[in-house]
Amino acid sequence: MIIYLAGVFVTYLTYKIYHKMSSGKCTCNTKLNNKVVIVTGANTGIGFETAKDLARREAKVILACRDQAKGIKARDDIIKATGNNNVAYKQLDLASFKSVRTFASQILETETHVHILINNAGTGKLDNSLTEDNLPIEMQINHFGPFLLTKLLLPMIKNSAPGRIINVSSLLHRYGTIDLDNIHKPAKSWLQHSRVYSNSKLANVLFTKRLSRDLLGTGVTVNCLHPGAVSTDIFRHQPTLSRFLISLVFKTPEEGAQTTIHLAVSPELCDVTGKYFSDCIETASSCRTEDKELADKLWELSDKITEKK
Ligand SMILES: NC(=O)c1ccc[n+]([C@@H]2O[C@H](COP(=O)([O-])OP(=O)(O)OC[C@H]3O[C@@H](n4cnc5c(N)ncnc54)[C@H](OP(=O)(O)O)[C@@H]3O)[C@@H](O)[C@H]2O)c1
Repeated sequence: MIIYLAGVFVTYLTYKIYHKMSSGKCTCNTKLNNKVVIVTGANTGIGFETAKDLARREAKVILACRDQAKGIKARDDIIKATGNNNVAYKQLDLASFKSVRTFASQILETETHVHILINNAGTGKLDNSLTEDNLPIEMQINHFGPFLLTKLLLPMIKNSAPGRIINVSSLLHRYGTIDLDNIHKPAKSWLQHSRVYSNSKLANVLFTKRLSRDLLGTGVTVNCLHPGAVSTDIFRHQPTLSRFLISLVFKTPEEGAQTTIHLAVSPELCDVTGKYFSDCIETASSCRTEDKELADKLWELSDKITEKK
C-alpha cells in the first residue's frame, strides 16, 4: 500500500514539474505607467490575476465586474497586493446591452484614454435561459456583450493608439460551429446546448480575425488566446470531487493569466494582430476561423443584434 501511494505521489509530482516547465510564462518586465487598461471579469480567476499583474506594472486598471461587492473586494485586494492605488471598479453586466452601454458611456465620460481592453469575462454555465435582450445567456456574455463593448470603446482605443485588444477564447473553439440562423436563439436540445460554449469561443476567434482586418494601420492590434486548463470558478457548477481533481491537475489562475499578460505587454508583439496564442506562443486556430466570409456574416449579424432598437 505504501509503495502504491508513493508511486501515485511521484507520478503526480513528475506531472506537476512537467506542467510547470511546459506552461508559458510572460517574462518581460514592461511597465505600463500612464496606460489605462480595462479587464472584464476581473474579480476572480484569470481576470483577477491579469489585473493584479498589470496593476503591478503601474497601469491604471479598471475592473469591469458584474457584482459590486466582488468588484470592490478585488479592487481592495489588488491595491493591497501591488501598492498601486490607481485601480478602480466599475459595474458591467455583459448579459445586458443596457449595462454595456452604461459602462461604455461612463468610460467615455471619465477617461481620456483606453490603451488596453481585455475581454476576459466568460461563463460556461449550462443554463439555457434568455437574457433581457432575448438572447441565449452564455452566447450574450461570451460573444454579443464583448462585441458591443469593444465597438463602443473602439473610437477611444484608436485615439489612444498604440493600443491592444485581447479576447480570451478557448481551445474548445475547435469544437464550435456558427449557425447564423440559430446563434441568437435558445438551444433546442441538450446536445445543442452543450455546444454553446464552444460556439461562443469560436465566435471570439472569428471576431478577433475580422476586427484585426478593420484595424490595420490604426496602431491598434487585436489578438486572442487559450489560457490553458485553469482551476477557476468557471468550474463552480461541477461536483465537489471534479473540482478537487481539477484543482490538483489544472493550472493555477496565475499560470492561466500568463498568455493574456504576454499579449498585453510584450514589446515584440506591438505589430502582431489577428492571431491566436496558447502558452505565450502563436498557435494555429481551427480551419473554421480562417473563413473570412463566415467572419463577415457573424460581424453583420452581431452588429444587427447589438444595435440600439
Ligand atoms: N478556466 C479554464 O480552464 C478556461 C479555459 C479556456 C478558456 N477560459 C476562459 O477564460 C476566461 C476567464 O475565465 P476563468 O476561468 O477565470 O473563470 P471565472 O473564474 O469563472 O471568471 C469569469 C469572470 O467572468 C465574470 N462574468 C461572468 N458572467 C459575467 C457577466 N454577465 N458580466 C460580467 N462579467 C461576468 C465572472 O464574474 P462573477 O464572479 O460575478 O461570476 C468572473 O469575474 C473566460 O472567458 C473563459 O471562457 C477559461
